[in-house]
Amino acid sequence: MGLLTGRRALVTGVANKRSIAWAIAKALSREGAELALTYQHDRFKANLEKLLPELPPSTISLPLDVADDESLAAMAATLQAKWGHLDHLVHSIAFAKADDMAGRFADTSRDGYALAQDVSAYSLVALTRSVLPMLQAAGGGSVVTMTALGGERVMPSYNVMGVAKAALEASLRYLAWELGGDNIRVNAISAGPLRTLAAAGVRSAHTAMNQLPERSPLRRNITQEDVGDAAAFLLSDWARNITGQVLYVDAGYHIMAQ
Ligand SMILES: NC(=O)c1ccc[n+]([C@@H]2O[C@H](COP(=O)([O-])OP(=O)(O)OC[C@H]3O[C@@H](n4cnc5c(N)ncnc54)[C@H](O)[C@@H]3O)[C@@H](O)[C@H]2O)c1
Repeated sequence: MGLLTGRRALVTGVANKRSIAWAIAKALSREGAELALTYQHDRFKANLEKLLPELPPSTISLPLDVADDESLAAMAATLQAKWGHLDHLVHSIAFAKADDMAGRFADTSRDGYALAQDVSAYSLVALTRSVLPMLQAAGGGSVVTMTALGGERVMPSYNVMGVAKAALEASLRYLAWELGGDNIRVNAISAGPLRTLAAAGVRSAHTAMNQLPERSPLRRNITQEDVGDAAAFLLSDWARNITGQVLYVDAGYHIMAQ
């Protein structure tokens, strides 16, 4: 028996094999969960189709653009028709304009700020709301989102994404309070730096990747698999009284002052 045998999990944000969402999907599948995965657009659909043979044939794949309410509603309606209930939701989505993560934070444009908030923070609220009836139908469940240390401390060049992560972390706490009455838990993983598409343009991620082996307590970088295993734990009943938390998967880097 795996930690998640008999559970149904929706995992969002698979862009390619390096996506944190893909590592989480593999960990959840290994632990016995049945999966639905979402991709943002056709290019990522093709990437996902190449990966799907690694998962059981029952795995569902669906398009989802979290910036579009109709897309959210269509995804939820399809899942409702196929599954009826849902036990777990993984939110592994973020976006900010490259310009807003390269220059000065003070120069962040109004629309760039709003876009980062919309896709990277508000999407947790909208996505959770869209599948809430299915989580309630399961008698409760758990949600995990992905954050980063730049949401609470300054990581030069993380800029507008750091502000979005701060909003994401506050949002998960409000959701945890409101949904606790429905036996739904909401937590985040604050991951150390990983080489993914989203991290490619983030200078602070490259700096942190060089720093972890020298300055983290465990003196090493982390892997996508570390995050996948932590997500499986947080979603499972082993974490049954943990909600509203940020769990650091960063080799301990966040405890260091220098
Ligand atoms: N890679 C890191 O170092 C790191 C560290 C900490 C946290 N994170 C967070 O992990 C999460 C996943 O990122 P990743 O590193 O796996 O990179 P990734 O590029 O593989 O994943 C980001 C995902 O967001 C999706 N996305 C962006 N805009 C979207 C939209 N409008 N609708 C639907 N999906 C959309 C992309 O399609 C992609 O699948 C993000 O929240 C990121 O901030 C990453």
